[in-house]
Amino acid sequence: MVEFALPANSRVGTGKTWPKHGDSKRLKEFRIYRWNPDDNQNPRVDTYFVDRDDCGPMVLDALIWIKSKIDPALTFRRSCREGICGSCAMNIDGTNTLACTQHMDDVKGAVKIYPLPHLPVVKDLVPDLSVFYAQHASIEPWLQTASPTPEKERLQSPQDRGKLDGLYECILCACCSTSCPSYWWNGDRYLGPAVLLQAYRWLIDSRDEAAGARLDNVEDPFRLYRCHTIMNCAKACPKGLNPAKAIAEIKNMLIARQI
Ligand code: SF4
Ligand code: SF4
Ligand code: FES
Repeated sequence: MVEFALPANSRVGTGKTWPKHGDSKRLKEFRIYRWNPDDNQNPRVDTYFVDRDDCGPMVLDALIWIKSKIDPALTFRRSCREGICGSCAMNIDGTNTLACTQHMDDVKGAVKIYPLPHLPVVKDLVPDLSVFYAQHASIEPWLQTASPTPEKERLQSPQDRGKLDGLYECILCACCSTSCPSYWWNGDRYLGPAVLLQAYRWLIDSRDEAAGARLDNVEDPFRLYRCHTIMNCAKACPKGLNPAKAIAEIKNMLIARQI
């Protein structure tokens, strides 16, 4: 029988339990994945206790509190703190989501935090998103036109503008792509739900005039057709979007142009 096991250098060990800070009785336990590429050690999970009387309510508040009061080396991405930039995406209590919109009290027991799954790790909670961003660039996510530029803006009817709802809100956090089994196994060749949702956003923009080339670009057994409608992506999206539906619409467009 074939045996699958993690390489020895990627097994996650038990890390340090950091001393409690202050004498608060309202403490929340956090168990956080740590890995430093410079110390030649295996990854580990460190334990921290956050003072709920001295810290905001969200998981990101707790990470910032830990970094400023206990462990300045703890590394994570964040920017907007309000669910807009997508940079604080991570795996919290087994679900990919945004640390800034996840209330820590909604997690029962210790809050377990890992980087987004199935991506190389740069450090601690920071995943390497270079392939993801290159895939996004590959769908040329900007308005493309062939007709003469109008004197003012390119107009769009309210109905056509409405077709972008459920798409334009995507913040490219990668929660969906990194919860997609097809993307786990073929992430170098399958574009994944986030990038395909973006591809559809430009395909149905009434002002865009490059639909044919855009469809050619995604019509590929790996780039598009690795989606098996498992729907993990829609479940994971912290903005409530449905990338699987967008992917199905692209497939419909490809069928329609053959008729
Ligand atoms: S529906 Fe498609 S894109 Fe979404 S998780 Fe499943 S395979 Fe991935
Ligand atoms: S579709 Fe949702 S989960 Fe996927 S990248 Fe966009 S906002 Fe994030
Ligand atoms: S910090 Fe911007 S989405 Fe969380």
